[in-house]
Amino acid sequence: MTAVDVDVTELMGVAERVAREAGALVSDGRPDRVTVAATKSSPQDVVTAMDYASEELLRRRLAELRPDDGVLGEERGWQPGGSGVTWVVDPIDGTVNYLYGQPSYAVSVAAVTGPAGVAPDPRTWTVLASCVHAPTLGLTYTAARGAGAWLDGVRLTMGAGPDDLAGCLLGTGFGYLAQRRAVQGRVVAALLPRVRDIRRLGSAAVDLCSVAAGSLDAHYERGLQPWDLAGASLVVTESGGVVVGLRGEPASDEMTVAGPPAVVARLTPLLEELGADSDA
Ligand code: IPD
Repeated sequence: MTAVDVDVTELMGVAERVAREAGALVSDGRPDRVTVAATKSSPQDVVTAMDYASEELLRRRLAELRPDDGVLGEERGWQPGGSGVTWVVDPIDGTVNYLYGQPSYAVSVAAVTGPAGVAPDPRTWTVLASCVHAPTLGLTYTAARGAGAWLDGVRLTMGAGPDDLAGCLLGTGFGYLAQRRAVQGRVVAALLPRVRDIRRLGSAAVDLCSVAAGSLDAHYERGLQPWDLAGASLVVTESGGVVVGLRGEPASDEMTVAGPPAVVARLTPLLEELGADSDA
């Protein structure tokens, strides 16, 4: 039990159930040619009809299973509840991959608790339970606070990671605005000669879970939104990793760095020196 008097294992079960349902909708219902339904912050920031349909399914099922809880979703915003638990959902994380038929995308569902009366914020929330379900990759990550993290039911335990950054395979992602991308390109250019290699796989939730599973050594990204981060952050921390911001701050849209503690301790000073948390 937690301060909000919930069973985190039960919440994890709800997260997995609805994430699998939404994942089936999204993958089974993918048309041969996916089209852009709308754009958001820039022409690169796209939404498909399936993002909307998946979020509607998640909201409907969560209302049936957990009627007193709030929901914050990428496409339809924040709907407060009365229970102290809010579901933070990304109906398709990796929408551009989904648009192009690239397999790295996921439905992310997380139960969080935090200060009353304000939308869930990674700086202040406690993630209670989550599921990141990547239907085309065939990977399902689950986590419950204080209980552990799992990939397809197998307990995840993060290794210590490489001894130096030169041996690290890093994941990262890019924002949708040109100025931010220009700075992100400069940071990547400075990091690339100092690490094993860098991957931009296209779904922050999958990337962060890959760190938990050891298929990336660390992931850093500026601009992650609550729905990109919530589910996967618990998978990382419950597998033994850390998820932080720069300059002693918690992870947020300013910067998120995730990985084994020793790797993150080596990577964060370098990102600070490179001004990776700035758009200028
Ligand atoms: C995006 C993906 C991408 C990351 C972007 C996110 P969306 O989420 O996670 O990998 O680099 O920052 O916005 O828009 O596909 O849900």
